[in-house]
Amino acid sequence: MELSVHWRWLATVLNLLILGAGVWCDCTEEGIEIEGGDYILTQGLKFGSTLIYQCPNGLFPYPAMTRQCSGGRWQDLPSRERNISQKCRLVECPDPTVLKYGSVDPPEERYFVGNETMYECDSGYRLRGSVKRVCLANGKWSGSTPICSRDDGNPCPDPGIPPGSLRSGDYFDYDDEVTYSCTNSLTYLVGSRVRTCKADGQWSGVEPSCFYKYTYDTASDISEAFGGAMKQSLTESMSVGDIQEGRKITITKDGRTLNMYIAVDISDSLTKQDINESTVMVQAFIERVASYAVSPNYDILFFTSELLPISNILDYYNGVNTKTLEAVLEDLKKNRATGTDLNLVFKHMLERIIIIEETTKAKFEDLRHIILIFTDGGYNMGGSPLANLQRIKNTIKPEDHLDVYIFAVGARIYESDLQPLATNERGRHFFRILKEDMDTMFDEIFGDLCGLHKLSDITPSKSLVYPWNVRLTILRGEQTKKCTGAIVSSKLILTAAHCFLGDLPENIQVDVKQGRDQGMVEKYYRHPQYNITAKVDEGIAEFYDYDVALVQLKEDLIFTTNLKPICIPCTKETNQALRLPPDSKCSDQEKLLLKDFNQRLHFLTGEDTVKQKDVVAKLGQNRDPCINQATRLPNVTAEKIHEFVTDNFLCTGGIRPFVDHIACKGDSGGAVFRDYNQRTIQVGLVSWGTDEECKGHEGQLVNSKEYSRDFHLNLFKIVDFLHSVMAQGDRTLAPTEFIDNWKL
Ligand SMILES: *[C@@H]1O[C@H](CO)[C@@H](O)[C@H](O)[C@H]1NC(C)=O
Ligand SMILES: *[C@@H]1O[C@H](CO)[C@@H](O)[C@H](O)[C@H]1NC(C)=O
Ligand SMILES: *[C@@H]1O[C@H](CO)[C@@H](O)[C@H](O)[C@H]1NC(C)=O
Ligand SMILES: *[C@@H]1O[C@H](CO)[C@@H](O)[C@H](O)[C@H]1NC(C)=O
Ligand SMILES: *[C@@H]1O[C@H](CO)[C@@H](O)[C@H](O)[C@H]1NC(C)=O
Repeated sequence: MELSVHWRWLATVLNLLILGAGVWCDCTEEGIEIEGGDYILTQGLKFGSTLIYQCPNGLFPYPAMTRQCSGGRWQDLPSRERNISQKCRLVECPDPTVLKYGSVDPPEERYFVGNETMYECDSGYRLRGSVKRVCLANGKWSGSTPICSRDDGNPCPDPGIPPGSLRSGDYFDYDDEVTYSCTNSLTYLVGSRVRTCKADGQWSGVEPSCFYKYTYDTASDISEAFGGAMKQSLTESMSVGDIQEGRKITITKDGRTLNMYIAVDISDSLTKQDINESTVMVQAFIERVASYAVSPNYDILFFTSELLPISNILDYYNGVNTKTLEAVLEDLKKNRATGTDLNLVFKHMLERIIIIEETTKAKFEDLRHIILIFTDGGYNMGGSPLANLQRIKNTIKPEDHLDVYIFAVGARIYESDLQPLATNERGRHFFRILKEDMDTMFDEIFGDLCGLHKLSDITPSKSLVYPWNVRLTILRGEQTKKCTGAIVSSKLILTAAHCFLGDLPENIQVDVKQGRDQGMVEKYYRHPQYNITAKVDEGIAEFYDYDVALVQLKEDLIFTTNLKPICIPCTKETNQALRLPPDSKCSDQEKLLLKDFNQRLHFLTGEDTVKQKDVVAKLGQNRDPCINQATRLPNVTAEKIHEFVTDNFLCTGGIRPFVDHIACKGDSGGAVFRDYNQRTIQVGLVSWGTDEECKGHEGQLVNSKEYSRDFHLNLFKIVDFLHSVMAQGDRTLAPTEFIDNWKL
């Protein structure tokens, strides 16, 4: 076992104690420049400061990634490299020519960022994985490992040889083992070193990869590996009795409890801002987890060489088990605080787990435990945590009830210290991530959740805050019509039926992300009962009942932080978003979302700069006075008002209780939505209005006059239409699932 003492924050203490004051001196800036790059100093030229080299994307600092100021010199260059001048070098990807029974084109000694490779199998062999791969800026190949194999009747498929690795073991029968190592001494192995062919015909563990010092996981890599496993744990422990307020945190569906232990290394967090960022990150994580309607018990601590406990998991077990999510978030906000003692963290967790075991007795084996460690280095005090980790593993049975995830953040990572701490038997549990990617990581992980708000408001462009919002342009010869729509699934945009007049799909443009991407339209569905001329005989030129359409795109949208669907009524996801029990009905959602006589709602306007309009839907006893203003329209009488403004419409506008904004032409079809617990749920869509006050002010916030009214189609009234299009056989149209009895 390796007991490492890293020359890091400990430097100060060590030098005072051991080396004496003689070498207590600062460094100079001489000779630390890097060709083609830049550097930052964590504590200026002071003793103990870290010099972190930075290179443009696709390049990495060589020979050193970081250096430490100690004894008046910048240390950390291996001696044989001392005379090499510091440069930014091209990122290299691990050797793909390790492919067996096939060939790689072009065959090269080394492959650099941007290099493309093609794969072909020898005759008689079939290719699985990518035919073409590109070396990416993070030091990984795009796509998946190409494997040439033939059907030889083995129970397990050929597990392949990932780039840069060497495999021993060529037998793929039950219980056969294959062992991997990395051939290049500059790389290290991430993932499973040994894999076994299991009884179900699958290999144990995860495919290994060879990482250089500079190789890192992107937010999407992590989303794929960690997100999947995490979501599974969360879904498995989804609780039934969870209710909106005063949520009880213990017993889950199958009697299980999910315990989450989160430890964040703040030893290198020199400023308050850094610590704040860590706080925001943990908070983001907890909020995302809460959208699964699961209520874990949290133990949260920040650590350096000391522990800064934030939330004590034992509180959940001491009598009243009713710590609310809100209380946990409150704890997190309250607590603020060099050396890194990771062993102390594991010791702390072990103690907690033992107490929980004593408290819960027989029920202990029903509990699941997830440990998440965020660290920017290794550890340099307190020794190796491996022994305490082993004690934790010995305590928690069955062993698959414990997951330890390590997120290594930053340039200066001691992977040989950290990797052994992550459990790797079921999927990858060790990740290397760039600090700047932390922001988007949880967004990506939980990215396919509908109606997620963007977390950080660092980006000034407002449109990022509304990732579901799209603009539609309908081309009609010289003329164009503009409408707004909302992404409701990877292929479908919800908008108003009146945006279309029998237009051909090829004349409809869907502007996703402000003109940077366009979706091609396959077809569109209008509500079968929509008929704008239905009341012409009664002297009403335009009748907007059932003014709803779904536009189907040719290709799936790829959801990202900035492109995501909105939640729609009567889906299981919306139950989760509203933190309703999974068996809640459609009417429960409606009651929660449209419950007040005056319900605040919003919709969006504008193209380049998107602005939010605020309105109040007049419901219940307030609805009739609201819709009565439509009698100002020609041929609309008080007797016939309910035939004209049917129950399918929400009514907004006027100046009471607030001065509402009024809808403009281009706003048509846009989502009328409500924010709820960090999620956004669409309850209506902009359809028509009594006045044209907006003329000439499209895209701006225009105040309503006393008598002006807007009518928005209420989605709860047309769920049958949404269901008929979205829940048809083709699952790709609706990854969202409607609740079983959506008619109730
Ligand atoms: C270091 O580099 C300089 C010039 O680049 C050279 O003169 C010197 O011999 C080198 N020293 C060693 C130890 O390689
Ligand atoms: C691989 O990339 C390097 C660096 O950009 C370039 O010089 C080289 O020509 C590329 N090789 C091929 C085969 O494209
Ligand atoms: C932390 O940062 C957020 C956003 O940057 C800010 O709103 C908040 O006030 C900060 N909190 C503290 C305690 O500094
Ligand atoms: C729309 O309503 C009018 C008047 O009732 C009727 O003549 C027409 O056929 C309807 N159109 C459709 C498409 O149903
Ligand atoms: C009102 O209805 C009458 C009779 O149906 C019709 O002649 C007239 O044009 C209508 N007025 C408007 C403004 O549509």
